Amino acid sequence: MSTFIKGLEGVVVAQSQLSYIDGQAGQLIYRGYHIHDLAAHSSFEEVAYLLWNGRLPTRAELDELKHQLALNRQLPNGLLTLLRSLPTTAPPMTVLRTAVSAAAMFDPEAEDVSLEASRRKAIRLAAQIPTIVATYERLRRGEDPILPREDLDQAANYLYMQTGQVPDPENARALDQYFILLADHGMNASTFAARVTTGTLADIHSAITSALATLKGPLHGGANQKAMEMLQEIGEPDNVDAYIKRALAEKRRIMGFGHRVYKTEDPRATVLRRMSKELCQRMGATKWYDISRRIEELVTAEKGIYPNVDFYSASVLYVLGIPVDLFTPMFACSRIVGWTAHVLEQLADNRLIRPRAEYVGPKDLKYVPIDERA
Ligand code: CMC
Repeated sequence: MSTFIKGLEGVVVAQSQLSYIDGQAGQLIYRGYHIHDLAAHSSFEEVAYLLWNGRLPTRAELDELKHQLALNRQLPNGLLTLLRSLPTTAPPMTVLRTAVSAAAMFDPEAEDVSLEASRRKAIRLAAQIPTIVATYERLRRGEDPILPREDLDQAANYLYMQTGQVPDPENARALDQYFILLADHGMNASTFAARVTTGTLADIHSAITSALATLKGPLHGGANQKAMEMLQEIGEPDNVDAYIKRALAEKRRIMGFGHRVYKTEDPRATVLRRMSKELCQRMGATKWYDISRRIEELVTAEKGIYPNVDFYSASVLYVLGIPVDLFTPMFACSRIVGWTAHVLEQLADNRLIRPRAEYVGPKDLKYVPIDERA
């Protein structure tokens, strides 16, 4: 039996054409295109088309995808009833995980695991997830949900559904860029979970429920919320040095830093740092950027680790007016595209994913009848 590798570090578990990460050079590529080019020039819908179909769309193809997304944003009544019945104190990721699982029961093609049906369901899920998040946010605030608008793109429509206001185009573009940056990322934990589920030929709602459950953890998608909570706890730039020195002395993990694959700067963090600076300045909240920048200087100098995607995401989402416990659901609004693209890739050439464990327990113990046990 081959050697056990804790956390599967460095283990290759699939071949994929979706995204390429060079952890030494700090590069991320979606289907051949560098993330910095996509963030600068494309839109989230274009990236969704690219990941789902393997090439950039023509204008007509992009319009058709936007149309399909817009048509599928509204939630089935049964799902709305479910959301209304949930406690308003439920963590939003718990709500999203439950709602996506429940959405299968209202999807006419739920049990059809063909590639064609799964493609259609991928679009429906990408359309519905932001509506679930915004609807629950309104309901827990005691406000009526706002119906999605068909004339807005994914990012602008999300902000509209959360606030009831059509967003400033610069804010909508910032969220759109955030969605582009997070759309896919190799064999991360939640994507792996989705592929393992698909490998059993379970349906796409099951796979995405697995992915959401996995994204929730603070070592993965939960880190953006934890990073913002840290910024809030620090409160002012002058408090950073004492806070970080104490945290490092106590061997605490600084959320939003470090990465399994990147040994240099995460290329998404490069874009998000710039976005954080611009947005914080424009929104008159520079202290969040200033605090973040000082944390970065200290942590990188002391520990030799760099910010990952979740660190500057925190201040970006915060100044865009996203409630802190919706940060991880925002990650999901983007990653749904990558997850579903991986599901389709897995389905197209499936083999059950079934690794082994190295057994390190005892063998040959003698069974003792219950009444004779000490
Ligand atoms: N703060 C302080 N020390 C750290 C951190 C951190 N954020 N990350 C890693 N280290 C240290 C760690 O203590 C260890 O040091 P030593 O060898 O002295 O014990 C060394 O770096 C290696 O850490 P590791 O846990 O073996 O590395 P890993 O590859 O298993 O962990 C990680 C990767 C992302 C789980 C980890 O860096 C971490 O916990 N970061 C904080 C949580 C976070 O930001 N997660 C988001 C990850 S990226 C986006 C996403 O997937 O959502």
